Amino acid sequence: MSAEPLQLGLIGVGNVGTGVAKILLNHPDRITRRSGRPVVIRRAVVRDLSKPRDLALPAGVLTDDVQAVIRDPEIKVAVELMGGIHPAREVVLELLKAGKDVVTANKALLCEHGDEIFQLARELGRTVAFEAAVAGGIPIIAAVGQSMAANQIVGIQAILNGTSNYILSEMLLRGQTYADALRGAQELGYAEADPALDVNGTDAAQKLGILAQLSFGTKVPLSEFHCSGIDKLEQADIEYAGDLGYTIKLLASARLVEGRLELSVRPTLIRRDRALAMTHGPFNAILLDGDVVGSVWYSGRGAGQDPTASAVTADIIDMAIGRAQLTFSRLDLWGESAGFPIAPLEETASRFYLRLAVDDRPHVMADITDILGRNNISLASVIQREAPEVEGDSPTPVVPLVIMTHRTKTGQLQAAEAALHKLGSVKYPWTVLAVAD
Ligand code: NAP
Ligand code: HSE
Repeated sequence: MSAEPLQLGLIGVGNVGTGVAKILLNHPDRITRRSGRPVVIRRAVVRDLSKPRDLALPAGVLTDDVQAVIRDPEIKVAVELMGGIHPAREVVLELLKAGKDVVTANKALLCEHGDEIFQLARELGRTVAFEAAVAGGIPIIAAVGQSMAANQIVGIQAILNGTSNYILSEMLLRGQTYADALRGAQELGYAEADPALDVNGTDAAQKLGILAQLSFGTKVPLSEFHCSGIDKLEQADIEYAGDLGYTIKLLASARLVEGRLELSVRPTLIRRDRALAMTHGPFNAILLDGDVVGSVWYSGRGAGQDPTASAVTADIIDMAIGRAQLTFSRLDLWGESAGFPIAPLEETASRFYLRLAVDDRPHVMADITDILGRNNISLASVIQREAPEVEGDSPTPVVPLVIMTHRTKTGQLQAAEAALHKLGSVKYPWTVLAVAD
């Protein structure tokens, strides 16, 4: 085993980059033992050199010139932690062409340009490691890429966005407003530079896309699967779900049904006693179903400096000892195969929660149940709260009506929604959420 140090280029010393540098600087003996050689940060790249940093890097290491890493032949491994797609894509491609292996936590980049990056890496005999890109500190890429290799994964149910999960937990457990909880997630370093990506479901969809490619060989453009976030959710839905015995989570789901892949990221009611429903704060959780092993459960902190830095540093150590190639080559197992086809959303089935605002007058309930019945949708339960009695010619009160359906095709629900639109007695917008099996 060579004792020659591994010279590292760190590109991005923000939230995660600072965490990685601290592990390397604070635990040199541990890192050297595990890597078989010292790991040295030779250059660290930032955008703004004048920014105060909670980190003491050796003199001369910090630079605002990314070429200082790309052009340095002594740097064998570069760690891309700048985030975003441009210029991260161009930087990663240049790093590979310059003969460096790359570690990245950038799911947005891999989701959009993973094909191009992995293809170039293979052509050049380089490796790209990305454990931190999915579920922060949980070693899920290694699990899917190596430990589950004997299985065909048939189902994934997961909480993959720490920011959304933190917000939902704060709203449920501490009665915080959405806006305050989002601010907290940003202050704690969980959120993306653009937090819209967290709360609108994009970040979780990017991560599910990466897991789906590893698990099913299916390359999933974001545009191709159903994705919605927690940004339209109201406190009332959290409360009604609780009354019904459920907790709402941003659930990322992929499952093989009759040879087709059903994929979604959406706020979903999950029975309160399930482990997924009890996953709170910045924690992520992943339930994998393998056709040989059965169900396997992973959970841990999915966002934030320390857990993410833990995963990035594990990749650096794997690079140092040549083990990162193992997971990377798993991407090859599917070869040129397009994997499983994606099922159209309208053909997928689920139970649903509907919260409508309806006029409180005769025949309204009959009209609604008639529409649902004609679309073959069976009701599992209904909650309608009383409105105060009105007198004389006061306007008709509007009351909330919450309906839980039995399992139904999404297409049938969509047809029922189109018919509900035509009823003047049901006010739009309303809330429709999936209920997990
Ligand atoms: P961040 O705090 O915004 O840090 C970004 C760093 O990159 C900063 O040091 C910034 O420089 C530098 N940078 C940005 N653009 C640059 C450019 N054009 N040239 C040179 N330097 C540039 O982001 P982060 O939270 O650490 O996230 C980094 C990556 O990890 C992202 O891909 C993110 O999706 C991923 N990730 C984050 C988490 C998390 O919990 N935060 C978890 C998993 C994965 P300045 O410091 O000068 O601004
Ligand atoms: N913004 C991401 C999240 C960071 O909240 O999950 C971890 O990828």
